[in-house]
Amino acid sequence: MTVKADPTQIDAQDRVFVLTGAGVSAESGLKTFRDQGGLWEGHRVEDVATPEAWEEDAARVWRFYSERRKGAEKAEPNAAHRALAELEAAIGDRFFLCTQNVDDLHERAGSQRLVHMHGELFVSRCEDACGRAPFADRARYATEDAIARCACGGRIRPHIVWFGEIPLEMERIEREIARSTVMLVVGTSGAVYPAANFVRWAGPQVRKYYIGPEEPVNAHAFTRLVLGNAGEVLPGLIQATGNRE
Ligand code: OAD
Repeated sequence: MTVKADPTQIDAQDRVFVLTGAGVSAESGLKTFRDQGGLWEGHRVEDVATPEAWEEDAARVWRFYSERRKGAEKAEPNAAHRALAELEAAIGDRFFLCTQNVDDLHERAGSQRLVHMHGELFVSRCEDACGRAPFADRARYATEDAIARCACGGRIRPHIVWFGEIPLEMERIEREIARSTVMLVVGTSGAVYPAANFVRWAGPQVRKYYIGPEEPVNAHAFTRLVLGNAGEVLPGLIQATGNRE
């Protein structure tokens, strides 16, 4: 296995795959999931983020996501989001970002080559597979009667991958991992699959770094752990590559 003298150096041949989790938005004031004693903004996950919860009480699910829309609208990108957008600006299509986050802070920092594998907070879609494409939506709904309806009659639901549903864009993500030479994993506990396995899908030659204040569950799979808050660590780490095109 080739480990460079400065393993965080990103060379002209390198392709960088980045995976981010809730921790990258923590310094923007958005709460992470596992820091909340098993509750998610005070709710049990199964009450608000499963297909069963939607069938049982769609208005409760929408109240939860309406609150999250409100919170994310008020949040601003932080230094970690900006550092990743700057890296992309420097290395162009040799950069790819996969986020587990549903907020839009990466986009607002300037990231372009990104996928939201768990969906997007400001996108909605029809609950039925009627063929209507997911669409931009900032509306908030509090009651069953208020929930917007599709032309087909189905209710409009959040474009979020709930527990038990299949993550989005997996083929593209697998392709990007397969051709990467550097993997940066930022602010994710390494406990939710399939994202927790990405570091294992990358070949042994790939330099794999974890950035966050504590060791993730899958820590042993990384080349190096850089322990610290993403907004403090990432700008220096990426500047240190000094590889502007
Ligand atoms: P978690 O809440 O599980 O983990 C957040 C991670 O961020 C922890 O490892 C913290 O140590 C770290 N962290 C906290 N502050 C940080 C900071 N300032 N800088 C860097 N890291 C920091 O969140 P995720 O791993 O993202 O799924 O959770 C993965 C998925 O589980 C989510 O996408 C969501 C959730 O249930 C769905 O919504 C489907």
